[in-house]
Amino acid sequence: MVVLVLLSVFVARSVSHTITFLDVPLWVDPRRDAELRCQYTRQAQDPPLHSVKWYRDTNEIFRYTPQEYETRAFNNTGIAVMNSSCDSRSCVITVKPERGTAKYTCEVSSEGPRFAVDRKSSNMTLAVLPEYEPLITGLPTLVQAGEQALVNCTSDYSLPAATIDWFVDSEPQEDPLIVGVTHVSGADSEGLRASWRTLHVFPDDYVTHRGYLSLRCRATLPTRPPLVRSMSVRLYVASRPLISSYMFSKNNAVASNDSRRVHAELTFWTFLLLFMSQVPCVMK
Ligand SMILES: *[C@@H]1O[C@H](CO)[C@@H](O)[C@H](O)[C@H]1NC(C)=O
Ligand SMILES: *[C@@H]1O[C@H](CO)[C@@H](O)[C@H](O)[C@H]1NC(C)=O
Ligand SMILES: *[C@@H]1O[C@H](CO)[C@@H](O)[C@H](O)[C@H]1NC(C)=O
Ligand SMILES: *[C@@H]1O[C@H](CO)[C@@H](O)[C@H](O)[C@H]1NC(C)=O
Repeated sequence: MVVLVLLSVFVARSVSHTITFLDVPLWVDPRRDAELRCQYTRQAQDPPLHSVKWYRDTNEIFRYTPQEYETRAFNNTGIAVMNSSCDSRSCVITVKPERGTAKYTCEVSSEGPRFAVDRKSSNMTLAVLPEYEPLITGLPTLVQAGEQALVNCTSDYSLPAATIDWFVDSEPQEDPLIVGVTHVSGADSEGLRASWRTLHVFPDDYVTHRGYLSLRCRATLPTRPPLVRSMSVRLYVASRPLISSYMFSKNNAVASNDSRRVHAELTFWTFLLLFMSQVPCVMK
């Protein structure tokens, strides 16, 4: 009985700090330090926080030990911890990202006697930025109204592949008949991929008073914050032959109506003249 009571006390006391949130960016921009955040909670019966440790793969890179008022960065793995801000509820570090993928682990332990541990991991990969701005190809010098133009936007090789969006006069294009999907090339020797997306523009679908449509291609890499590159071009639209041909046929219609009316009037007058010329005979 005593053993049972002791056991249950032990079980209740064995609860440790629990990691509630681990935030490691999946992709990092090589030009920025990456911020890694670990948040944890403590139950009322838990012992106080003993330490928070950050690992890159299996190497400890940072340790926070609140009882000793100490934070330590470990430099032996070549990873530079640039800054840190830790307390009893969260521990945030900023690191200079390294090429490739690494698994980052946050490990929280409570004070003894058990030094119970909770840990969570997440991968982080250094993005490889596209070297060139997105390239728009296939732009016709002039498109006739009533015709369509096929314009291609290609984003340079990058890791991960960029997603591409098209805008016509600042309006995002989502209709699958107008923009298909972003196509992604095979990986090159370094694992980088190019991507492209084709815009089908029907100038008649847009109202333009300037003689051109502004086409913008936007390539986005899902780093944090996202890396965005854009390219804009003008698609010149020939001055409304469709409207003038419509006007033309309308004028024709008017003209033929007129001629029909003229014809009818002529017939009427001819008939009247004939009739009148007959009248005297009748009168006679
Ligand atoms: C870590 O290493 C870098 C060079 O790799 C050095 O500049 C820096 O001072 C070192 N930091 C510590 C805390 O030893
Ligand atoms: C480190 O972080 C603190 C607050 O978290 C900030 O005030 C400080 O400017 C940062 N230092 C560097 C070198 O980034
Ligand atoms: C991290 O990446 C490795 C391979 O690079 C994979 O095996 C592992 O499951 C990933 N871990 C997480 C937490 O995504
Ligand atoms: C668009 O460009 C990509 C890459 O340059 C190419 O593979 C693809 O065939 C092009 N598509 C069209 C419709 O021109």
